[in-house]
Amino acid sequence: MVVRDLGCGTGSMGRWLAPRLRARQQWFVHDRDAGLARRAAASLPVPATPVVGTVADIDLTGTDVVVCSALLDLLSAVEIGALVDACAAAGAAVLFALSVTGRVRFDPADRDDARLAAAFDAHQRRDGLAGPDAPDRVAAALGRAGMEVRRETTPWRLAGGSAGSRPLAEEWLRGWCDAAAVQDPTLDVDGYLARRLTAPFAVEVGHVDVLGLPR
Ligand SMILES: C[S@@+](CC[C@H](N)C(=O)[O-])C[C@H]1O[C@@H](n2cnc3c(N)ncnc32)[C@H](O)[C@@H]1O
Repeated sequence: MVVRDLGCGTGSMGRWLAPRLRARQQWFVHDRDAGLARRAAASLPVPATPVVGTVADIDLTGTDVVVCSALLDLLSAVEIGALVDACAAAGAAVLFALSVTGRVRFDPADRDDARLAAAFDAHQRRDGLAGPDAPDRVAAALGRAGMEVRRETTPWRLAGGSAGSRPLAEEWLRGWCDAAAVQDPTLDVDGYLARRLTAPFAVEVGHVDVLGLPR
């Protein structure tokens, strides 16, 4: 089974998925960052080859499975359409995991949550990127290409109140606020962060997985 992981990063998708596929596998791990592609290939428990390039350059000839995680929002509508067409032409099954949906729910709520969320989503949609629209676009395109499509919600639940996950919740929060501030400099991001970082909080960050199977 030939599997390609697009935008592989450090290879987390391969380390998770490869042991779950009951077949002999050859993986190709693609990233535009050469260092990440090499690191991902070395970390997989099955044979894996690093490929340096962008999704736009991809050749899926002979590919059985195409996967990615946390990538779709970084692609344009045109790139998403071309990718789905290429997957369908290759007859490949696809699993596009962990795409952001734009849904963010804090506990407790803050008066500025909605403004920050709107600015973050607008930042994700900059320069024609699909951002939180990516999962809907990809699911529709897979359906049009004749594939059987399944979606599952896969939210991140970060509990900023517990000692164990507080550093991760804070790191996510700072990144979210930074992007919102770039998009809308009128936001009082410092005030918002000061309120959030001096009190416990939990946040659910909407994500979705989309599976497409050739019929
Ligand atoms: C958010 S990270 C996700 C990494 C990994 N898939 C994971 O889930 O941990 C996105 C990755 O995609 C790569 N990337 C972004 N846009 C890309 C493109 N157009 N073509 C190829 N790789 C891309 C980045 O270099 C980065 O490693």
